[in-house]
Amino acid sequence: MPEIIVSENIIGAAMDRLRHEHDVLYSPHLWQSPDELQAALVEARALIVRNQTKVTAELFAAAPHLKIVARAGVGVDNIDVAAATSAGVVVSYTPAANAVSVAELAVGLMLALARHIPQAHAHAIAGGWNRQRYMGTELAGRTLGIVGFGRIGQLTAERAQAFGMKIVAADALLASDAPALAKFDARLLPLEELLAAADVVTLHVPLTPDTNNLINTDRLARMKHSALLINTSRGEVVDEASLLSGLKDHKIAGAALDVRRTEPPAPSEFDALQNVILLPHLGAFTFEAQERVIDAVCRDVTLVLAGQPALEYFNIPEPRR
Ligand code: MLT
Repeated sequence: MPEIIVSENIIGAAMDRLRHEHDVLYSPHLWQSPDELQAALVEARALIVRNQTKVTAELFAAAPHLKIVARAGVGVDNIDVAAATSAGVVVSYTPAANAVSVAELAVGLMLALARHIPQAHAHAIAGGWNRQRYMGTELAGRTLGIVGFGRIGQLTAERAQAFGMKIVAADALLASDAPALAKFDARLLPLEELLAAADVVTLHVPLTPDTNNLINTDRLARMKHSALLINTSRGEVVDEASLLSGLKDHKIAGAALDVRRTEPPAPSEFDALQNVILLPHLGAFTFEAQERVIDAVCRDVTLVLAGQPALEYFNIPEPRR
């Protein structure tokens, strides 16, 4: 029986080495079959996932030899961390490895929305040349509202400052005298005030019960009609039905969604809207970030299976079972 299960698409040199040195079941679609995953885990000592495998309490109960769940990414919302901790299983993750890539994508989406780049590209390759229709707005002098001023939020601020944007931030965990705010000359605002002040709002919060549907009808109503919304965090942070009506009714000017409530999403009315950009959760998908992420997860799995502590853990450094 395999010692390590990989239930999503995770490829790279470090994974090749891991597969060479251990008995690995590499099954990138296994996340779609929870019963098969559970059966595969009966003897396994490690599980490596991205964000699509639901690692539930039932799964921990059915995996008595499991020592580590290694998350190739930063969000651990797909893992029942409390159940992992009470089962004595390490949850490792990669908190910093893809932060630059996500921040760069957020900035890319900001530019793409402000200048209608995807829509204008589609127009040009269809033979069009209507420059008036794709008139954009500058980012210089605009206010960027960053919701979640952690690592990715701050990297986004740094890049936006280079465009001459003013920064406001909302973050329930940050004090108003936090050095990070001074560094970016950023004002800390309550979320409602940030939404009213910002020309562009970018979301960088983890998914928790408090952030589920954080952007809902009421909060969209507080935003400027000209505002742009960018979500590269988690789909569930935005109430998609509210956003859809907000966009259709031009309550806000545009939105870019890299993440969706269900991934991959079913076809929806978003697909036909001209003021929306949709991506298939690409934030972390750069060669550089993926190399760092996969090196880190393979390193921590190797360490834990060799009886040593994980270096980047979310709950406990060593298994307690
Ligand atoms: C992350 O949480 O690291 C990114 O959203 C990428 C992913 O979920 O795989």
